[in-house]
Amino acid sequence: MIEHHHWHPVALAEEVGAAPLAARLLDQPLVLWRDAAGLPHAFPDRCPHRGARLSLGRVQDGRLECPYHGWQFEGGGHCVHVPALPQFQPPAGHRVECFGVREAHGLVWVRLAPGDAALPAFAAEDDARLRKLNCGPYDVAASAPRIVENFLDMSHFGFVHEGWLGARDAAAIDDYRVEPTPTGLLATGCKAWQPQSNLHSTTAAQVEYTYEVTGPYAAVLTKLPEPGTTAVEGWRESIALYICPLTQESSRVWFRLAVADFDSPDSKLRDFQHTIFTQDQPVLESQEPRRLPLDLRAELHTAADKASSAYRRYLRGCGVTFGVC
Ligand code: FES
Repeated sequence: MIEHHHWHPVALAEEVGAAPLAARLLDQPLVLWRDAAGLPHAFPDRCPHRGARLSLGRVQDGRLECPYHGWQFEGGGHCVHVPALPQFQPPAGHRVECFGVREAHGLVWVRLAPGDAALPAFAAEDDARLRKLNCGPYDVAASAPRIVENFLDMSHFGFVHEGWLGARDAAAIDDYRVEPTPTGLLATGCKAWQPQSNLHSTTAAQVEYTYEVTGPYAAVLTKLPEPGTTAVEGWRESIALYICPLTQESSRVWFRLAVADFDSPDSKLRDFQHTIFTQDQPVLESQEPRRLPLDLRAELHTAADKASSAYRRYLRGCGVTFGVC
């Protein structure tokens, strides 16, 4: 599957510590752990000896130790110690598969098969004028593509986020532009009238966004400064959506916030994002089918939906099969 060749987030970096951590990606159970140098590793969560879950074990002397017979595996996956035969030198074939692992954006990322795809881009990450923090995880009973599409969709603001990001009597969407990119799409000129466009706003404002799909299950929105303010004076933020496709119809979601607010406590920034996403979640979980239909004839569309239509064309074009139907 093409999805195996892309990087996907699987856990907050801070969660992968001294003890093995169970995770799941694309129906593959994983064990995540760190070696003595602090490097993260990802193996299938199954011992090749008798099939026990490695995530029930422990990390000992920088090696992952199976909970059943204590075999120890080094970061490259080779078994280097069999306690029942202390003099035994395990051959090269005594090993567990290793998946590609990276650490970025406060998350651990895993790739199940080699490939050329880069980590999803997030330009705000290197902007020192913006503070970064993560929200989540949220476990959602919806496919990853349904969640991306919701993120790209402005026409639900007046209904799902009434009084926050929109109002039902001001739900009209001006025309906006969508163009394909090598990693998905770019939508610009996306404007919405919002009663409270961010946690500090006290008056309604017309807000302009750009949306970018940065991988099959990743996207970024950037809120442009309001007219009359500069990028530094005005409220400015980018939010990256990162989704781990757990199964075809369930996902784990994080948001990476990059905001020009260095004063508010983390909890205040997270609370606003939490409020917005937990308004989305029950609607997302109600959608049928849970997988995103790539046949454009399967659901109805208008010009207001052209970002989501372009996303479906992108998924079809790059051959994504997980989470779609
Ligand atoms: Fe893992 Fe035996 S099942 S060491």
